[in-house]
Amino acid sequence: MNPSNSSPTAEARNTIKSIRDLNITGQSVFMRLDFNVPLSAPDAHGHRKIEDDSRIQEALPTIKYAIEKGAKLVLASHLGRPDGKKSTEFSLEPVAAHLATLLGVEVTLADDCVGEGIEMMVQSMKNGQVFLLENLRFHAGEEANDPSFVSKLTKLCQVYITDAFGTAHRKHAPTYGMPSVMQTKGMGFLIEKELNFLNKMMKNPAKPFYAILGGSKVTDKIKTIDALIRQVDGLVIGGAMAHAFWAVQGDEIPSGAKQPKPADVEAARAILKDAKKRELTILTPKDTNLGFDIGPESVKAFNQFLSNAKTIFWNGPLGWFEKPEYAVGTFEVARFISKLDAMKVVGGGDTVSAIKQSGVAEKFDHLSTGGGAVLEFLENGSLPGIDILRSTVRQTSSEQIMMRETDLIRKK
Ligand code: 3PG
Repeated sequence: MNPSNSSPTAEARNTIKSIRDLNITGQSVFMRLDFNVPLSAPDAHGHRKIEDDSRIQEALPTIKYAIEKGAKLVLASHLGRPDGKKSTEFSLEPVAAHLATLLGVEVTLADDCVGEGIEMMVQSMKNGQVFLLENLRFHAGEEANDPSFVSKLTKLCQVYITDAFGTAHRKHAPTYGMPSVMQTKGMGFLIEKELNFLNKMMKNPAKPFYAILGGSKVTDKIKTIDALIRQVDGLVIGGAMAHAFWAVQGDEIPSGAKQPKPADVEAARAILKDAKKRELTILTPKDTNLGFDIGPESVKAFNQFLSNAKTIFWNGPLGWFEKPEYAVGTFEVARFISKLDAMKVVGGGDTVSAIKQSGVAEKFDHLSTGGGAVLEFLENGSLPGIDILRSTVRQTSSEQIMMRETDLIRKK
């Protein structure tokens, strides 16, 4: 499907502008992307290699569209958590190089993301040219949503576009502060795609709708489970998270396996109680491989339970899949559901990575680029970095300051 022809949900169309609704030709466009990709350990020179480029691949349609339209493209992302300090380890250099190869155009990596030098670079840009700003998190103002950092970023653009779905749950300067003050703003094709799948799944899922949840802590996902439990026809629980459910059910947790924390056990108890009230099945593993993977009986039971699904949402691997000996359960369930005639949506970096390793990723309908963002979206039905695109701004704060200054000069 050509993303520039895809239609957004009616809800999004009414309230949030898409990049295709904005005139971007010849305009400097600040595009917030989520290039927070997994990287290898640094080599002797501190350089790192990209281990999974999904987030870069998924950003390509919006970037290519903006280039074709002749925008002056200023791309921006964070990478890791450098805590406001510059470091080679967290440089976006590997991303710039990879992006240039994928796009087949030059991508100039700036040595910073704000300041006079960067402003001059942007002013000298030609239509269709691509700059990538250096890691936004080299400045503490990014996470702090510092107004002065926001104002430095807004100096770089006339149009604000976000396609950073994976970071849209953060109220940071470039995800929240900027769109709060920018007049001309919209979303890219990736956010449209994510919203289409997640909205369909939560608002109008084909039934039966089942969720598969794994990972380690119940407490991390309790709010998402609370939201899912109202929509789904059954929950399948694997990974170390299942241990908390066993503790409530009085099942034995293999010695050497991760013991659940009391808070996780209490969360599991509350979920089981709610599920009972709703007459909802919660399936937990019957057997395990030393407590690090679900066993063959569980794979059989899970697959049988899921076999009539029409919608499946999966978040969290069912075992320690990074170790081949404990990847069997996750891979077997992935391969089984890949053959089902159901809408299959996956959220979370680890889970997406596991599905890819199982070799059946192309059989899934949507592999979300969001981890925390997906969970928060399911919980609240929206994300701050997307909602803020609905707001209207009469004047940007820098315009207001300029007008005030002009007024003062006139009065003198
Ligand atoms: C993610 O990988 O979940 C996003 O890029 C957000 O990153 P953060 O948790 O460091 O804000």
